[in-house]
Amino acid sequence: MTDTSKIILDVDTGTDDAMAIILAMRALKDRLLAITVTHGNQPLHNTLENTLRVVEFMGGGVPVYGGMPGPMVQDLMPGRHGNQRHQKYVQIIDGEEVCVHAPYLPLPPTSLKPQSQHAVSFLVDALRNTPEPITIVSVGPLSNLGMALRMAPDIAKNIKRLILMGGGDRDVNLTSAAELNFFKDPEAAQIVVHAPCPIVIFPLDATTSIVFREHDAEQIMALDNPCARFYADLLLHFIERLRLLGIAYKDDPNDFSMAMHDALCILYLLDPTLVTDLRRRNVDVDFGGSLCDGRMVVESRVYVPLEGDVQVAYQLDKEKAMSLLLRILA
Ligand code: RIB
Ligand code: CA
Repeated sequence: MTDTSKIILDVDTGTDDAMAIILAMRALKDRLLAITVTHGNQPLHNTLENTLRVVEFMGGGVPVYGGMPGPMVQDLMPGRHGNQRHQKYVQIIDGEEVCVHAPYLPLPPTSLKPQSQHAVSFLVDALRNTPEPITIVSVGPLSNLGMALRMAPDIAKNIKRLILMGGGDRDVNLTSAAELNFFKDPEAAQIVVHAPCPIVIFPLDATTSIVFREHDAEQIMALDNPCARFYADLLLHFIERLRLLGIAYKDDPNDFSMAMHDALCILYLLDPTLVTDLRRRNVDVDFGGSLCDGRMVVESRVYVPLEGDVQVAYQLDKEKAMSLLLRILA
């Protein structure tokens, strides 16, 4: 049966978050209730401005709520971030600070204003008062949703499904043990992955199981409309940043292909058959503050009973992803 539930998209706009917003506004606008924004790829001020810029570029009409400027409690422990082996996610190159996700997306400064209500209280209100359960798609650090679940655990009953990009079983990025979204707020991630609602996790194992290169951008560019051109530019920009920072793909030091991470969660909403390997697993997130801070821990012992309703994606279908993208962006 077709899913017609309303959707709340939770982002830390960045490049692939922008791709997710574009696809959601292009293909799911009638279901898109709101976009909530958190810290992550950049400070909240930037992620909020970037989100508003993309929403405006896509014609507006979706309310945007600013949320958590930082993690729930992680930064209370001095030196907690000194215990891990970090990726060079931000580097000084030719005297300039270069990050995978630039401080501002290449769009005009926004004329839109965010809603005055805080994203966390919006999430509680929306989930408490909705006539129908809502689908939540979270593609940044889980601070907004973690706080909302802490404030009002009852809201979980009105989450139809939580689709989240975060974590890594075999694959990691920000540290040698963890993925960025989970690492940026491990406590929130542990709260969220234990929420009593259906959860589908897209870890790096899934989002890097298919990658995109210049020739994919050319196919999208050839659609020759402003939205497709901007989307293709974001893809090329991502590849360029990875190359500049030397963040290669898996074990080939000369391969700077990009993973579309967040956008894949939207494609999954549109076509669940995009995922070809989905496994029910017990999942935890380490918040111990040491080497494995923010690490996604996937239970692999088959004799341990399953507790929640958590599914972990491991493999996606590249051809399906590309044909969906070309259909949506046409
Ligand atoms: O690790 C990938 C995730 O971190 C994506 O959501 C990307 O936008 C960054 O937030
Ligand atoms: Ca993100």
